[in-house]
Parts: sequence; C-alpha cells; structure tokens
Amino acid sequence: MALLVEKSTSGREYKVKDMSQADFGRLEIELAEVEMPGLMASRTEFGPSQPFRGAKITGSLHMNIQTAVLIETLTALGAEVRWCSSNVFSTQDHAAAAIARDSAAVFAWKGETLQEYWWCIERALDWGPGGGPDLIIGDGGDATLLIHEGVKAEEEFAKNGTIPDPTSTNNVDFQLVLTIIKASLMTDPLRYTKMKERLVGVSAITGVNRLYQMQANGTLIFPVININNDTFTKKEIDNLYGCRHSLPYGLMTATNFMIAGKVVLVAGYGDVGKGCAASMKQAGARVIVTEDDPTLALQATMEGFQVFPLEDVVSNVDIFVTTTGKKDIIMVDHMLKMKNNAIVCNIGHLDNEIDMHGLKTFPGVERITIKPQSDRWPQTDRWVFPDTNSGIIVLAEGRLMNLGCATGHPSFVMSCSFTNQVIAQLELWNERSSGKYEKKVYVLPKHLDEKVAALHLGKLGAKLTKLTKDQADYISVPVEGPYKPAHYRY
Ligand code: ADE
Repeated sequence: MALLVEKSTSGREYKVKDMSQADFGRLEIELAEVEMPGLMASRTEFGPSQPFRGAKITGSLHMNIQTAVLIETLTALGAEVRWCSSNVFSTQDHAAAAIARDSAAVFAWKGETLQEYWWCIERALDWGPGGGPDLIIGDGGDATLLIHEGVKAEEEFAKNGTIPDPTSTNNVDFQLVLTIIKASLMTDPLRYTKMKERLVGVSAITGVNRLYQMQANGTLIFPVININNDTFTKKEIDNLYGCRHSLPYGLMTATNFMIAGKVVLVAGYGDVGKGCAASMKQAGARVIVTEDDPTLALQATMEGFQVFPLEDVVSNVDIFVTTTGKKDIIMVDHMLKMKNNAIVCNIGHLDNEIDMHGLKTFPGVERITIKPQSDRWPQTDRWVFPDTNSGIIVLAEGRLMNLGCATGHPSFVMSCSFTNQVIAQLELWNERSSGKYEKKVYVLPKHLDEKVAALHLGKLGAKLTKLTKDQADYISVPVEGPYKPAHYRY
C-alpha cells in the first residue's frame, strides 16, 4: 500500500484500506453500542459537560468495531482523536473506514507490514507543530516506546551529536523505531521532547511490565494508569471471559478442526490461560497446563487440569496455545517433536512466545500458506520440516490469534475494559494541573472498578442485593461501597 495520508470530506487525515466499507462498519458499530452499556452510560453521564474539550487523544489499540465505540465515546465527550492499531493483523477494515469517515483520524488496515505498522503509529502521534497528543491510550506500549526512545535519542544528539544506528539491533521492530527516530532527528531534533512535554498521561492495557521497569529505574517520563492488573473489570472480565470466548472463535475460524477429544496444551494459567483452559475443557478437550508458578499450578490442578512441562508432553498434544506474557515458550526444537498438523498459536499480546524466527530459518523448512491474510481468512500456514512430510499449523504467524484469526473479545467484555479506559483518561485529564499524578504507574481505585461492574449488570438482567447498614458495619464497609478493601483479590 502506498503510504500517503488522505483527507476525508470533513478535512480529517486518514489512511485505511477501503472507505467504501464505511456503511458496513457503521451497521456493526450500531450493533456493538447496544452490547457496550458501560461506554454508552459514560456518554450519557459525561457527554453534556464535554469534559475532553480541548484534549487531543492518540490511541494505539486494535482498530476494530469495539474500539470504534470507544473512540466515539471519547469524541462524544469532546476529544479530538487520532488512532492506529496495536497489531498488524487486528484491524477490521470496515470499522476503520467508518471511524475515518465519521469521527477521528485513523491510520490502520488489516495485514500491515511492520514498516507500515510503525508508519501508522508515527501518523497517530503526529498532531502537527504544536507537539504530540495530550493523552495516549496504549495497548502493548509501542507508541510510548517510540516516544521514550525518541526523547533518549534527542538527548544524546543534543549532547554529542550521536545518531541512532538501526543496524545496532537484530530486533526488526526496534530497527524500525531507530529508523524513524533517525529520520526525525534530521527534520526536528526536538520532536519527541516536545511530545513528552505536552503529554499529560497514558492509560495502558498490556505491556505494563515494561512501564513498571521504567518506573523502577527512574526512566518513566509521564504518569500511567494501568488498566490491566488490579482492575477486576479489565483483568478478569476481559482476560478471563474474553479469552474463554475468543480462543475457540479464532481456532474454528482458522482451521475448524475438531476440539472435542483432542489434547490441548495451554501454556500459562494466569487469567488468559484460565479462560483458554476453561473453554477447551467445555469443548470436550483434554487439557494440559504448563506453569512455573506453584500457586497457579495448584489452581490448575484443582480445576482438574494436568500440569506438566512442555517437554514431557510435546509429542502428544494436538493444539498448543501460549498465554504466558513471557518469551521463548515454544521453540523450534519443540516443534520438531510435535504431531503432524498440530496447531500452534498464541493469544498473549506480544508475539515472542512462539519461536517464529527459529521456524522460518530452520534449514529446508517449507511454508505452505493454507489461507492468506484477507478480509475473509486469517493467516494460516502449514510449515513442513524436511525429509519428514510432517508439519505443524501456525496461526496468525504467532501473533495474538483471537484478533488475528477472529475479531477478538466480544463487545460486552470490551465495554468493561474500555469504560475503565474512559475513566482513567478523564482522571488524568481532569487532574492535569493538580500535580496529583507523578511519573509513576497507578491503578484505578476500587470504587471506580465497582462502578464499571455495576454499569454492566442491567444488560444481563442481574439485580444486586442491598446491604443493610447493620451488615455493612459488621464487615466495616460503607453501604454505598467500595464493598471490598483495596488489597482484596477476587
Ligand atoms: N483485545 C481482545 N479483544 C479485543 C477487541 N475486540 N477489541 C479490542 N481489543 C481487544
């Protein structure tokens, strides 16, 4: 795709695959709105006072139908928005078209190359000469990584004229980051520094470990509200129930192989792993879990799962799913021992759990694309090892498969996560001059988490029992909540 920014009839910039899909996108957005009560309630509650008036928000998060409802909630509250995706395969082109036509500047399409992906991030951060965005909604941390690295490089450049060298790293993403920064140093050697100065804060979903590390070593350059951990409505509702829904959806879309009776290995038993293991069990699979954490391993066994290291079972497994959030989980040496046509996929955000580099560079390996990436099909490849006639099936090139092979979590769970995002963004924006938030990582207070949960009960027909004053006093909580102390783990 030629990388040229286009302009909509209202003058907004965009780059999407096909604007003629905008009407279709609008129809699906309207269906999703009914499934996203938290976001719609935020529009009703906050819309009239336009709290985001004057705020420029950049989002780097899967540009799909659910995200479209989030974007239009931000614009309904007065924000101006620029958006890119957080994964090369996760954009829904009709959603991107509808938003580009109607609401915000969008730079995203399904099946971006890595170069295109980073170009889109750059465009989403590009608010013109006044600096960057006031707020960022980040998934995975690529947009914030670019700013951090940009600021670092500009400081070095100012000190001693050093220019970053993209060949100094083997990591392709990082090579592209350094290439972008190198080019921007030539045109505006303070681009990222100005961006940092303007930025009020970031709400982050995945990739928060990197931000905690930056906080620990003093290199975090803006406040962050972490929506992923310690927020029940994100961590459990989205990670657990979302994956319980979207893992089978992705598997069936990619291959539709029978799940019942098969042996499924789920690597990791955090919330994502719990959702994946539960769905495979319900589908009739025999499930094995791998875990390095004894507490989670015990939880898995108590749920009836077997717990083994991958090496002990690798040749008996039909479907492998990585969920660990760690790296180097399934290596090419494991793949060589797998059954013919074993499915290998990842549902964690980052794509370093499966050794795609080792597979691609294995001597003599043949890649047979069963389904090329398109609007209709997810990328599905059979990789055949030499002299064996035996191969494995890898979904979405090892990238997160629920968004690569299907359309991700359903709207209802995303409403929980995204309502947290709206609340976090409002909090950062409202407190922008108060000094309340330092360059640290924060979590949302429990009463807001409870509020988000409450907003979603009506849609499911649930009705709360009212706590009496006497009962509330007995357990030392206010009648109106929060109903649990901050340290409580659900
Ligand atoms: N992550 C998982 N599913 C998602 C969805 N539908 N939208 C945005 N982010 C997601």
